[in-house]
Order: sequence, then C-alpha cells, then structure tokens
Amino acid sequence: MKVLILPTAERAAMHVAKLIADTVIGTANPVLGLATGGTMEPVYRELVHRHQAGELSFAGVTTFNLDEYVGLPPAHPQSYHSTMRRLLFDYVDIDLERCHLPQGDAKDIEVEAARYEAAIANAGGIDLQLLGVGSNGHIGFNEPTSSLGARTRVKTLTRETRSANARFFSSPDEVPRYALTMGPATIMDARQCVLLAIGAGKADAIARMVEGPVGADCPATALQWHPKATIVLDPEAASKLKMIAYYQYVHPDGQEPELGGGDGQS
Ligand code: F6R
Repeated sequence: MKVLILPTAERAAMHVAKLIADTVIGTANPVLGLATGGTMEPVYRELVHRHQAGELSFAGVTTFNLDEYVGLPPAHPQSYHSTMRRLLFDYVDIDLERCHLPQGDAKDIEVEAARYEAAIANAGGIDLQLLGVGSNGHIGFNEPTSSLGARTRVKTLTRETRSANARFFSSPDEVPRYALTMGPATIMDARQCVLLAIGAGKADAIARMVEGPVGADCPATALQWHPKATIVLDPEAASKLKMIAYYQYVHPDGQEPELGGGDGQS
C-alpha cells in the first residue's frame, strides 16, 4: 500500500482529483469506479473545475459506481444516481449512457447484481476505483463480516452506517436498510484503487486497514492484497498509524518521488 499523508484535507482531496485526472488523460477509453459520500464532494468539485478550465474532458470516460440504495428509484433525490448527477455528471462532458450505477429499484435484485458484474467485465474492467471508507471499515457498502471474496450483491446496512448517512435524508428512518454494492472481490479486480479518508473519525478504521491483520471484521483490509492501492489521508485520518513516521519519510507531505512501479512504499 502506498500511504500518502497530505498536510490538509483540501490538499488530500486535490491529490485524489489529480490521480483521477491523470488516469483519464493517460488511458485510452478510461473506466473509472466512482464512490459517493461526503468525503468525495471536494474531489468531484475539483474535477468539475478542471473540466471548466478546459484541462480535462470526460468525453470517452465510462464510469461504474460502487453502490446504490435498494428501493430508491434513480430519480429519488438521495439516490446515488441523483447524487452523481448533482456532484459531477451534470457539469462535465460525460456521456450519461456510459455512466453506470446499480439499479436499486430493479425487480429482481439478484439478476441486477449479475448484470452489473457483467457490465463491468464487458467494459474491460475498471482502471481506477475511487473509494471512501466507513468508520467501521466498510468499503463500498461491504459492512464488517462481508466475505472478502464476495461480488456485487445486496448488503444490509449497519445501524452505524444508516445513522452516519442520515444527514443526507430528512429523517434517519428514511435511510434505506439495504444497498446493492460491488463486493470486495469486484473492487480488488480494479487495476488501481485510490482510497481517500479525512478526519479523526476515520483514524481507527485507517489504522486497522493499513496495519492490522486482513479480516472480514474490517473489509477495507482486503486492499492489503491489492498490488496498486494508494491511500490518501489528511493528518487527522492518519493520526493512529503506528508507522506514520515511515510513511512521511517515504512520501514527505504526500509527495510521490518518481521511483516507477511497485507500491512505492519501500
Ligand atoms: C459510498 C461508499 C461508502 C463511503 C463511506 C464513507 O459510495 O462507497 O463506502 O465511501 O461510507 O462515507 P463518507 O465519505 O460520507 O464518510
């Protein structure tokens, strides 16, 4: 894992936006895996800014979001379909036909899960998968005890996740109980993973994910097996890492020396 600790939350988000922009610019027919959640909002703002400044086109880009709430139709204001339009899709030159999210209101949710997996494979797989992390160590909506080998399927959200996401709804009871989410194995298939975490509330999950044993009690630990995972943090999210001095020594202020290849940590 490459652990980059940027001096501020804003610079961490800017760095992630740069990694995404570099992939879009440097890849033929780029396929991005996208995430929602409050952490991603400044990342998408920066991508929109780069587009509006004429530096970045999304014309040939295909996207697959990690997850969607079960039962919410795409037009629901809190669906991730609507969220992605509000944060990114409506402000860039992306072809909406190429923007994929699981269909949370599909009649047969298992068929939908299989269709989504096949759509990712048909697109040639994901070049860069953007990830946030829950304070309980979830990635996508793979809550603790998710099988690390699972692919897209329905997961029951924990009470903790539902209450964390209640801020996006008018009442906590409105937060759906279930989500259709890529599984850890789907995420691990991406050619590159970039995870952004901000704030002290994520510090325990980050310490567990980077330095703890791989285990289903913290699904984000699956990334320890990924050959190209970059973890971008602000100082608060990094504050419980035991080897913080090493990460800062290898990547001062989160800068990446041009060593070429590998996970860049050693
Ligand atoms: C949402 C997703 C989740 C979030 C996580 C953190 O698509 O994949 O794993 O990334 O719940 O959410 P925030 O950023 O709101 O703390």
